[in-house]
Amino acid sequence: MSVSEREPKAAAPRLFRMDGLVALVTGAGAGIGRMAAASLAEAGAGIAVTDRDGAAANRVAKELGRNAAAFVIDVADEAAIVAGTRAVLERFGRIDVLVNNAGIARRQSTVEMSRETWDQVMAVNLTGLFLMTREAVKPMLAQRSGSIVNIASIMGHVGGGLYPNPAYHASKGAVVNLTRAWACEFGPCNVRCNAIAPTFVNTDLARPMLSDPTMRAKLESLHPLGRLAEVDDLAGAILYLASPASAMVTGHSLAVDGGWLSR
Ligand SMILES: NC(=O)c1ccc[n+]([C@@H]2O[C@H](COP(=O)([O-])OP(=O)(O)OC[C@H]3O[C@@H](n4cnc5c(N)ncnc54)[C@H](O)[C@@H]3O)[C@@H](O)[C@H]2O)c1
Repeated sequence: MSVSEREPKAAAPRLFRMDGLVALVTGAGAGIGRMAAASLAEAGAGIAVTDRDGAAANRVAKELGRNAAAFVIDVADEAAIVAGTRAVLERFGRIDVLVNNAGIARRQSTVEMSRETWDQVMAVNLTGLFLMTREAVKPMLAQRSGSIVNIASIMGHVGGGLYPNPAYHASKGAVVNLTRAWACEFGPCNVRCNAIAPTFVNTDLARPMLSDPTMRAKLESLHPLGRLAEVDDLAGAILYLASPASAMVTGHSLAVDGGWLSR
């Protein structure tokens, strides 16, 4: 039988199942991370709900039920990352998916920004993502399978222009390229690395912009789809990149942006 005559392995919903797999999500106590944890849990994965805010992580783990557990990990703290990853492995026995979600924004112009503020953004958005990946990828490389999903941003692909946000642009641009570098580095061990690049999402992080009606209207007008994102708009993209549905996709940055980057 030739390859083209074989029964197609369609069964789309099965490709998105994650039963028996374990996902570690950073910054999972709120916003996009909470939604990512819920989406992967619904697909059957065990979830390590990690956040620097222990109470928030506990709340989310409770919402998700028996197959989830909370861990306090501040991604700006290397020792917490090393100890937290070890605790996740002790609890679940494996890590198959890492969602590098924790991130912050400090919207200041270059001339206003202190070295301390710059370092703060880099410590969470870039160095934290590096350290978290360094620890969580070790079991993935050993088991020769895994998927890393980095939460980048449309601001990692463009210079913005509506207001200055240089540290955020720099950190997210680096995440987009680190995603490619890790795809090359980890690919031979069957560990994939992709990113999503969301537009403005209705969470605490974007609240300062979205609560200003003039800014909000301007931002909406820049989206071909005419609206900003809700966290649920990202669920499908995260599940796709985390699950076997994207088995041949690596190094990609998937815009979930209502067309922002297409203009
Ligand atoms: N909201 C948006 O418009 C938007 C757009 C594009 C990309 N993103 C990215 O999505 C990710 C999540 O953003 P969000 O909007 O859900 O933010 P959010 O502020 O609503 O939630 C962030 C969560 O991360 C946690 N967190 C913050 N710093 C942490 C640290 N050092 N260690 C561990 N946890 C930490 C917080 O406690 C909180 O639970 C970020 O990387 C952000 O840059 C957000």
